[in-house]
Amino acid sequence: MILGLETSCDETAAALVTDDARIVSNVVSSQAELHARYGGVVPEIASRRHLELVVPVVREALTEADASLDDVTRVAVTRGPGLIGALLVGLSAAKAIAWARRLPLIAVDHLHGHVASLFLEPDAAEPPFLCLLASGGHTLLLDVRDHSGFRVLGTTLDDAAGEAFDKGARLLGLGYPGGAEIDRLAREGDAEAYDFPVARVPGLDFSFSGLKTALLYKVRELPPEELATRRADLAASYQRAIVTALLGRTSEAAKQIGAERIAVVGGVAANSELRVGLPGAFLAPLPLCTDNAAMIASAGRFLEGIPYPRYLALDAYASLAA
Ligand SMILES: Nc1ncnc2c1ncn2[C@@H]1O[C@H](COP(=O)(O)OP(=O)(O)OP(=O)(O)O)[C@@H](O)[C@H]1O
Ligand SMILES: [Mg+2]
Repeated sequence: MILGLETSCDETAAALVTDDARIVSNVVSSQAELHARYGGVVPEIASRRHLELVVPVVREALTEADASLDDVTRVAVTRGPGLIGALLVGLSAAKAIAWARRLPLIAVDHLHGHVASLFLEPDAAEPPFLCLLASGGHTLLLDVRDHSGFRVLGTTLDDAAGEAFDKGARLLGLGYPGGAEIDRLAREGDAEAYDFPVARVPGLDFSFSGLKTALLYKVRELPPEELATRRADLAASYQRAIVTALLGRTSEAAKQIGAERIAVVGGVAANSELRVGLPGAFLAPLPLCTDNAAMIASAGRFLEGIPYPRYLALDAYASLAA
């Protein structure tokens, strides 16, 4: 089995995945509550919490799988991109486990991990496909030709889609992280009530910062008592604008590269309006949309491990790998 570890942001996660892509255990400890009162992830708090949680979470993944480290043949870990201190906790833990057991270490790119959330049984997707990766930190259109990587076709010029959800939620006085909250509230609202702008930037890129500003102005215009009654309409209209932008660019990209299949991964792939807007697409299973370690172990299945002990000096990286 592959032991996967993920600590790039505010989830401490460990999972065991078999060589034939079955998830045996998948433990995710979210720190969201810890960061909620700050309205976003505080990097230093995240690193410290990962340090406290990483060993118990690995233990729980083994217990849940009814396995021991004797059953682990490779350790896969997120190397980047993400918060550097948070990444270093997972990377150091993975190195220590691999080194102690003389195992190879597999360094996984977090974004490749999100794509690989589609390669797990029982419903493994097969490349080639066009993949929309929409998460808290990224909005990417990816040409996925095989299991081991991707080519970037488009990205966001400013905020990520998940970030737009989170910032919008904050403006509407909803909790953090806000994507799921907006999704829930939007079901009670009228998506046509407000006309929010869908940015048209050149190529296959995205832009969400104007949308956020438009919501800010709408919220400021409304008297407080009216804001409370229009919140669901605002959430529904705001979500509609984000989803319209995502769907529009995705279908343009599919046409451009002649993709026959479309896939969606990342936290925003959990959005209900986005999911129904893409009939026939490969959709990451709900529990695997937001950060988890099963997707990291899944990516690890298609990568070369670094043999013991050559990985000891391996470093993490904070931003998108070149
Ligand atoms: N139902 C939903 N609708 C819309 N957005 C959602 C939903 N559920 C979660 N999200 C958003 O998904 C994001 C978290 O996703 P994920 O865990 O993949 O991101 P991340 O790991 O922080 O970023 P990255 O993967 O780019 O480093 C948050 O911005 C959250 O608001
Ligand atoms: Mg992520």
